[in-house]
Amino acid sequence: MWLRAFKAIISLAIIAPALVRADDLVIYNDGALASGWENWSWSSTLDFAATDLFVGTSSISIASTEWAALSLKLGSTTFQSYAGLRFDIAGAQPDIQISIQSTADNSQSPTIPLSAFGKTIVADNFTSLLIDFNALPGTGSKLESRCCGDGTWDRITFQAGGSGATYHLDNVVLVSSIVVAPQFLSAEPLANDVIAVTTVGPVNISSVSVTLNQQVLKIANQTTYIPVDTPSKSITYLQLASSLAPGSLLITAANASFAYTLPAVQYASIVQDVKYPINPHIYGVNFPSGSGYIKHLGIPMSRWGGNAVTAYNPFGGFTNAGNDWYFENRGSDSADDWIGWVQAAGSASMLTIPALDWVSKDASSYSYPRTIYPDQARFDPYNSDAGNGLFPNGSYITPPPDPTRAYTAWNTSAVKQWLSGLANKPTIVTIDNEMEIAHSTHQDMHPEPVSYDEELSRVINFATAAKAALPNVLVAAPSTCSWWFYWTSAIGYTDNAAHYNTDFIPWFLSQMKNQEATTGKRLLDYLDIHYYFQADTSSNNATAKALRLRATRSLWDYSYVDESWVGVSPQNHQWNPTAVGLIPRFKTLIDINYPGTKLSISEWSSTNDKDLTGGLVAVDVLGIFGKYKVDSATYWAEPDELGPIGLAYWLYRGYGAYFGSSSAQVNLANPKPDVLGVYAGTELGKLTLVIVNKDPAETMAFDLANVPSGKYFIRHFGGAAGVAKWQTNITIKSSTYIVVPPYTAIFLKQL
Ligand SMILES: *[C@@H]1O[C@H](CO)[C@@H](O)[C@H](O)[C@H]1NC(C)=O
Ligand SMILES: *[C@@H]1O[C@H](CO)[C@@H](O)[C@H](O)[C@H]1NC(C)=O
Ligand SMILES: *[C@@H]1O[C@H](CO)[C@@H](O)[C@H](O)[C@H]1NC(C)=O
Ligand SMILES: *[C@@H]1O[C@H](CO)[C@@H](O)[C@H](O)[C@H]1NC(C)=O
Ligand SMILES: *[C@@H]1O[C@H](CO)[C@@H](O)[C@H](O)[C@H]1NC(C)=O
Ligand SMILES: *[C@@H]1O[C@H](CO)[C@@H](O)[C@H](O)[C@H]1NC(C)=O
Ligand SMILES: *[C@@H]1O[C@H](CO)[C@@H](O)[C@H](O)[C@H]1NC(C)=O
Ligand SMILES: *[C@@H]1O[C@H](CO)[C@@H](O)[C@H](O)[C@H]1NC(C)=O
Ligand SMILES: *[C@@H]1O[C@H](CO)[C@@H](O)[C@H](O)[C@H]1NC(C)=O
Repeated sequence: MWLRAFKAIISLAIIAPALVRADDLVIYNDGALASGWENWSWSSTLDFAATDLFVGTSSISIASTEWAALSLKLGSTTFQSYAGLRFDIAGAQPDIQISIQSTADNSQSPTIPLSAFGKTIVADNFTSLLIDFNALPGTGSKLESRCCGDGTWDRITFQAGGSGATYHLDNVVLVSSIVVAPQFLSAEPLANDVIAVTTVGPVNISSVSVTLNQQVLKIANQTTYIPVDTPSKSITYLQLASSLAPGSLLITAANASFAYTLPAVQYASIVQDVKYPINPHIYGVNFPSGSGYIKHLGIPMSRWGGNAVTAYNPFGGFTNAGNDWYFENRGSDSADDWIGWVQAAGSASMLTIPALDWVSKDASSYSYPRTIYPDQARFDPYNSDAGNGLFPNGSYITPPPDPTRAYTAWNTSAVKQWLSGLANKPTIVTIDNEMEIAHSTHQDMHPEPVSYDEELSRVINFATAAKAALPNVLVAAPSTCSWWFYWTSAIGYTDNAAHYNTDFIPWFLSQMKNQEATTGKRLLDYLDIHYYFQADTSSNNATAKALRLRATRSLWDYSYVDESWVGVSPQNHQWNPTAVGLIPRFKTLIDINYPGTKLSISEWSSTNDKDLTGGLVAVDVLGIFGKYKVDSATYWAEPDELGPIGLAYWLYRGYGAYFGSSSAQVNLANPKPDVLGVYAGTELGKLTLVIVNKDPAETMAFDLANVPSGKYFIRHFGGAAGVAKWQTNITIKSSTYIVVPPYTAIFLKQL
């Protein structure tokens, strides 16, 4: 019916009015945008009366280039009183994401990728999709401004990804009401005697019944909780009259049923007396989005870092992201203001100080104009004169550009002037960012590969300047990007050879120690590295997810041969070189080469911020950082507060309820690090526990010796209950059978 060939026989007058209610607001039906709506699109070829595929008499056909968009704005009024947005879409799974915006205060909804709707979109037929403003697809959050008050929504944007998008839209309507059918989404066993039931709509909870090995389990009590960020869903915790036990568990509710096999226990004991402090700075992130974010997730360390701060000019408020974005200058937030609000919200700060020879001179210049270098591989879709500095064959443009085209000179005097003038003092400074790959990230102003000697001398000179300007500041360096560059420079093995065949980081540490011996002053307080898991999990299929979840072993386990190039061709002179063993390895290198230096990991990532497994990885990693005594760590980059990574931080630190300040000993009779992480904390004699079940299908049960019975606060996410901030108080009557469902992380805090 929707193809041109069938145009003669369609009679869609019957369909359209049935879908649109009188108090709905039509944006597009046929022929043109409805009155009051304006076309605010960019870089897109649009036809508002397309007749190649349509419902009614026409549709909108859209062909957007990379990052371009169809964007529609309501002229003089706003639409926040509507319940949702419905539209019909056709296209071969086009790469687009949708956002709702307020042009008045610049606030924006979370972006909603088409994949979040969970439907296959086809090219030759329309699929009807609905965005419920009370439960946005993907995050499940409400449409509300997270930055600036209430949000005066007036604009809807369908933006293409990096390869552009071609598709059709039709029947775009703001709907006045959405009826949510009552539904039982999940029902899972939890802890000692709880069934956690998640629902939407007005369900009948009394219809839930629970049997274990065909025997009915009585429900003693129930309590319902609505999570702060996802109010369309709720969870009801049914406390059973008896404990869960091994066997076959069946939960039925109205028309739904959920079955689990409860396993035999795994034995573990917790020893609170064997403990050592956890540095809270391990729970940090790069660039938190605002003070609410810091407070909600309990972020105690925030970093100003990444490729774009190498060229930060604090005097003008400019920066340049280098090869991340066409070597273009742009305006920057003020680092001083940033330190101010971050610290006012309760977080320490880690500030990167530029340590190359140049910083941005203005907010608009760029290094590779087409007018000078016409033959380049790519140009900025938003500025067709700014190229990416590569010939079409991928090699660097020659001759290198004049650095003064985009930059102004920078040196240690400028750093002293800047840091001494700061109104807000950083806790830690790092000496630039991934300086060892400047010849690539900042090829326009530092085309030569950085050698061992150059990197050392820049760290010494800029750390000296920083400590002269801010006597109490702590210095972290060299913020090396990856396993390869921990051991050699961009020059290659001849540089190792020129330094007694010593690998880079051990050499760097010993030189910083020599420097202290010579001057009597410690310049390096933290050895700072970046760590990204090397195994390829990008396919995100079941195999990749399992690999992502067990790769956390590379942080601590020398018996884990890395499942990447590192495990095959490790390229260094280190002991046990095919195992990363990251934290113990670097602690040992510090002990050998410069004792007393702390260890910081100022960039790390789960490898997938959107997938539940990324959140479970982050839970495991935060537990490992505490257990293995990392001194500071910041996630790259600002994880979505409502997404799986944000939930991992919330689990340990959300809303003022923290994991214990000391790490307590956990003894597992039969450790299974591929699929299980167990972390204990203690504070003032009270226990906290985090257990992450990384198995996609197996429920786990634990007999936990020395876990006192009594009242606990419990938080959890994952599994069938999904990504939401679920929590309640429970009473643990017996710790001999504690259940954790598949793909779930739980946090228990003794009250
Ligand atoms: C809508 O805006 C885009 C981008 O500016 C423009 O190319 C297009 O011609 C406009 N379409 C209509 C029908 O006004
Ligand atoms: C288009 O979708 C409708 C509704 O799902 C279906 O009835 C129809 O057969 C489909 N048409 C084509 C050409 O696939
Ligand atoms: C149960 O009922 C709800 C609400 O009517 C419905 O959405 C859901 O699909 C039904 N589930 C099953 C398994 O029939
Ligand atoms: C809820 O379910 C219970 C148990 O099945 C039933 O007795 C009761 O009538 C139901 N209540 C409603 C309002 O449907
Ligand atoms: C049931 O749970 C509520 C909320 O936690 C609590 O206030 C109440 O005392 C409990 N009732 C019984 C009988 O345990
Ligand atoms: C790439 O193209 C440039 C410009 O045409 C040329 O000078 C250079 O030799 C080429 N490099 C390679 C590796 O072919
Ligand atoms: C930094 O540059 C300024 C301006 O050229 C110059 O006056 C100053 O001496 C330089 N400082 C150092 C340490 O070279
Ligand atoms: C997972 O993806 C990888 C990489 O694309 C592929 O080699 C592998 O066969 C896939 N495995 C499964 C189980 O689909
Ligand atoms: C759990 O108990 C604590 C302490 O009694 C209380 O402050 C908190 O509000 C309770 N939390 C929930 C989710 O019931």
